[in-house]
Amino acid sequence: MREIETERLRLRGFQPGDLETYQATIYGDADVMRYLPGGQPRPIERTRDVLNFFIEHEQQHGFTVWAVVDKATGAFLGHCGLVYLNNDVEVEIAYAFGKAYWGQGFAPEAARACLRCGFEAAGLPYILAVAFPANLASQRVMQKIGMQYQGTTDRYYNAELVLYSASRDAWQPDSSPYKVKDVP
Ligand SMILES: CC(C)(COP(=O)(O)OP(=O)(O)OC[C@H]1O[C@@H](n2cnc3c(N)ncnc32)[C@H](O)[C@@H]1OP(=O)(O)O)[C@@H](O)C(=O)NCCC(=O)NCCS
Repeated sequence: MREIETERLRLRGFQPGDLETYQATIYGDADVMRYLPGGQPRPIERTRDVLNFFIEHEQQHGFTVWAVVDKATGAFLGHCGLVYLNNDVEVEIAYAFGKAYWGQGFAPEAARACLRCGFEAAGLPYILAVAFPANLASQRVMQKIGMQYQGTTDRYYNAELVLYSASRDAWQPDSSPYKVKDVP
């Protein structure tokens, strides 16, 4: 399994014991869920399925949506990572953070590291990002990490979404702290 460290964050694989905190921080919170698939809080059983899916995704592909924790305090902040879209061909970058942690640059810090891991460690040729048009905060994150606007698309999630992408050929790592390691 892979772990990624940035200046303030550790991205690590989800564990079954994260379930309650994950539900409270992300999938049970109406404000966080507003622009995520479904648009409203979900029951904890579905969160368990998502968590297990992310664990299996890493075992299968070597990358996934990871749990993001604060390196200094150990607090669970949210999730960020790389996951195959429905078509099993294209990979998207996904992120969601607890409301208490918005506006501190955590999403761009984590997402930048995930792009780097996707290109350098996983060798992906390109990575996509999608968001509801009204989700300006998410689009701002895409812009801040250097992804390119590609227009709108209805190819994913049965919705009209804005599409951004980054390609390995055009991408350059920046100098921000970044460590990736394999852990048992
Ligand atoms: C989207 C999200 C991940 C951003 O995370 P974050 O760690 O707060 O990101 P940042 O600290 O960089 O702040 C967001 C940026 O968007 C901007 N922003 C926030 N709300 C905005 C709005 N309504 N209109 C325009 N810009 C907005 C902020 O000003 C900031 O940009 P700046 O640094 O240039 O000022 C977070 O809001 C979140 O988890 N939302 C719920 C889940 C979600 O929507 N995930 C994405 C699904 S596609």
